[in-house]
Amino acid sequence: MCGIVGYVGKLQAAPVLLEGLAKLEYRGYDSSGIAVVRPDGIETVKAKGRLKNLQALTDDGKKLSGSTGIGHTRWATHGAPSDTNAHPHMSGQKKFAIVHNGIIENYLELKEFLIGRGFRFQSDTDTEVVAHLIEHYFSGSMTETLHKAVNKLKGSYALGVLYAGEPDRLYCARKDSPLVIGLSAGAGFVASDMPALLAHTRRFILLDDNETACIRADGFDIYNANNEPVEKEPFTAEWDVAAAEKDGFPHFMLKEIHEQPRALRQTLSPRLAASNVELHLKKLTREAFAAFDCLHIAACGSAYHAGIVGKYFIEKLCRIPVQVTLASEFRYCDPLIDDRTLTVIISQSGETADTLAALREAKRLGSAVLSIVNVVGSSIARESDDVLYTAAGPEISVATTKGYTTQVSALYLLGLYLAGIKETAAPKTLAAYAGALAELPALVERMIGDATPAVQLLASLFHGANDAYYIGRGTDYAAAMEGALKLKEISYIHAEAYAAGELKHGTISLIEKGSLVVALATDPALYPKIRSNITEVRTRGAVVFLVTDDKSGFFAGEYEYIVTLPDAEPAFSAVLSAAVMQLFGYYTAAAKGLDIDKPRNLAKSVTVE
Ligand code: F6R
Repeated sequence: MCGIVGYVGKLQAAPVLLEGLAKLEYRGYDSSGIAVVRPDGIETVKAKGRLKNLQALTDDGKKLSGSTGIGHTRWATHGAPSDTNAHPHMSGQKKFAIVHNGIIENYLELKEFLIGRGFRFQSDTDTEVVAHLIEHYFSGSMTETLHKAVNKLKGSYALGVLYAGEPDRLYCARKDSPLVIGLSAGAGFVASDMPALLAHTRRFILLDDNETACIRADGFDIYNANNEPVEKEPFTAEWDVAAAEKDGFPHFMLKEIHEQPRALRQTLSPRLAASNVELHLKKLTREAFAAFDCLHIAACGSAYHAGIVGKYFIEKLCRIPVQVTLASEFRYCDPLIDDRTLTVIISQSGETADTLAALREAKRLGSAVLSIVNVVGSSIARESDDVLYTAAGPEISVATTKGYTTQVSALYLLGLYLAGIKETAAPKTLAAYAGALAELPALVERMIGDATPAVQLLASLFHGANDAYYIGRGTDYAAAMEGALKLKEISYIHAEAYAAGELKHGTISLIEKGSLVVALATDPALYPKIRSNITEVRTRGAVVFLVTDDKSGFFAGEYEYIVTLPDAEPAFSAVLSAAVMQLFGYYTAAAKGLDIDKPRNLAKSVTVE
């Protein structure tokens, strides 16, 4: 949720930190702050609101000298957004400064303990206890002290720590919140996410849970949960700096919508052969797949919606039950899973706290876990039995686009793979699907180009709507859920998805003159049914925006507001209609002049439950 960055090297630290925070602002943007350490002590500057306030306050960092520092961009959990609650937080004697991502669950207990020992608190945050705790336990050795202090913490944390007595060192620790160490000649970094550091390095080390580290300009030391030194090899990230830039687009979201053909191609093509699918898994064998008698998918938000699209596809093709559960509910619904269940965990970031918790619960119940993840080496990837990586590249816009469609395409691959093993579809059928899937990236590319002018026009007509109802049947219903989320989260227009047949069971009473209904109709077998549902809402005055792949001319001439998808295999239409709905959400929010990449109250990578 929050973004952390730290630097130690020869450059002035503050501009480097601000530049890193700008890349991390998608993780939280209600306040920000930096601290630098010099031989004369630690200096902090904090500002409520967007990062630009901090940039202005420090003249883009030029006002702060010092070549070691930490920075933070916040998404408030404990304590309202304010200058005081912004990180970094200082210890009582100003010897230590802390930035934190996560939640310290036992902070009230620790606060009481520290108040009893004379510490005074400035903020309402859970984080401040960590700064005082380090000061309380300080023994002269920072690694020993940090180890002792983090052992008292319950909850999740990624921490960046400065000590006034060691202005050439940066300390960090992690548990259940992401943290990477970056290495370059003459400098060391720490950050919540790789994109923050891509301008400086592509060499990273992933810190594991319960590890602490000391970073210097010329190296680093990592310690395990017992405070023993551990050896770790850096890896080189494939992402480059251009991937984390807007590249001429006005927003990351639009850039990422346009990146979908490439992302889909890179996700699909290494796994698609002429007539079959190969997932290149490391641990889960074909024999293991043959033995699974059901699938249980757990994910949050758009990833959950991807799971529902996957359910429709996999159940139909593999004749095996597929249950999809919101990861935030997984632990509370006593899931019926065992060693004959394959649990599929879907997450773009690989760090979503509820999704990670669902993964752990599934493993505890004896299930094998396959995850569909975008960020290589993320917590979910590391804790799964096997990973099917999507190749979306860094996704910066808070609203997911390429992350979602690559997840859907990975589920199509999984369905084809499983059907091949279970022999639930003829080889000819599977080969035809594989062929159709290979064509999907090119179709998405064409569709984005073709549909954009029409969608822009529709967005300019409908951006004043208060509500929107997304309807569909079958896979279109699953796709409608994601469409509604795309509109509401960035345009702030209330939008809900309904299975079209359900309207008459209650929701249709909300339809009145001028209500906006977005109807999806991409399955020819269901055209007559959805047309009846559309007629029902039009009769009551609704304005209908139809997204269809009508090849037969079934809907021809009936609709004023229509986007027609290119000719594609109907089983894969959810990817094409998704792109239309992403564009509709984007241009609607643009017409309203909203902050598209950073919608209010949201943050990318939800690392708190
Ligand atoms: C919506 C969106 C979120 C994420 C959800 C899960 O546009 O981005 O709903 O899909 O927070 O995130 P990951 O996939 O990172 O687990």
